[in-house]
Amino acid sequence: KPKAIIPVDLFGLPARYRLIDKIAKKYNLKVIEDAAQSFGGSIRDKKVGTFGDIAATSFYPAKPLGCYGDGGAIFTNDDTLAEECKAIRIHGTKTDRYNSERIGLNGRFDSIQAAVILEKLTIFDEELEMRNIVNDNYRKYLNNAQYHPKEYQSAHALFSIVLGSNEKRNTLINRLQKNKIPSVVYYKFPIHLMKAFEYLGYKKKDFPVSENLSQTIVSLPMHPYLTENHITSIIESLKDNE
Ligand SMILES: Cc1ncc(COP(=O)(O)O)c(C=O)c1O
Repeated sequence: KPKAIIPVDLFGLPARYRLIDKIAKKYNLKVIEDAAQSFGGSIRDKKVGTFGDIAATSFYPAKPLGCYGDGGAIFTNDDTLAEECKAIRIHGTKTDRYNSERIGLNGRFDSIQAAVILEKLTIFDEELEMRNIVNDNYRKYLNNAQYHPKEYQSAHALFSIVLGSNEKRNTLINRLQKNKIPSVVYYKFPIHLMKAFEYLGYKKKDFPVSENLSQTIVSLPMHPYLTENHITSIIESLKDNE
């Protein structure tokens, strides 16, 4: 029996929490927000990390707020849940470091990575605005990027476009590569087709939208320091594709 919904704020865009909350309420499910790609995003004035019963983000370097190694954070308004998460972080211990009260793990955030995040937080708003500008610049030339509903603010973790076919996508990736422009496919396999989830019994064509996207999507360079000149040369390489 399902216990929770884990919406993923893919590419930086918050999920449709208003609709998800309705389903959660109807079936008495918890909502766990995967904000790994969307830290900094919002819906109207409500910030990512505040949707759902609990939220988690990642500070992996490729994320909107990244440290120089591994890291992450959990957000919740529920004090009991917060205490339990803190315990899980240090081998399930609460008051006595050498007496585990529940099963936990080592989820400590390295001090050196925390120092990086504290510094990067001071320029985070500025960097978000810069990502916004990069996004706007791309969209002057491209109309096949992720749809952003009005009043949804993306954290622009990635800038992904969808091509007409798998062949077109692959030709484009090769061309970008020749011009030394990095691109990545997020994601090559939808979860239901991954080996680890074979046991669930799903097969090809069960989720045609995800399957089609996995064949046709590609992510272009996205970071706050991409200049208009960079974008112009990326766009030139894309045009060569036609
Ligand atoms: C949507 C999403 N969820 C979870 C994760 C996992 O983050 P981490 O590797 O920091 O645990 C990632 C990062 O790859 C992600 O993009």
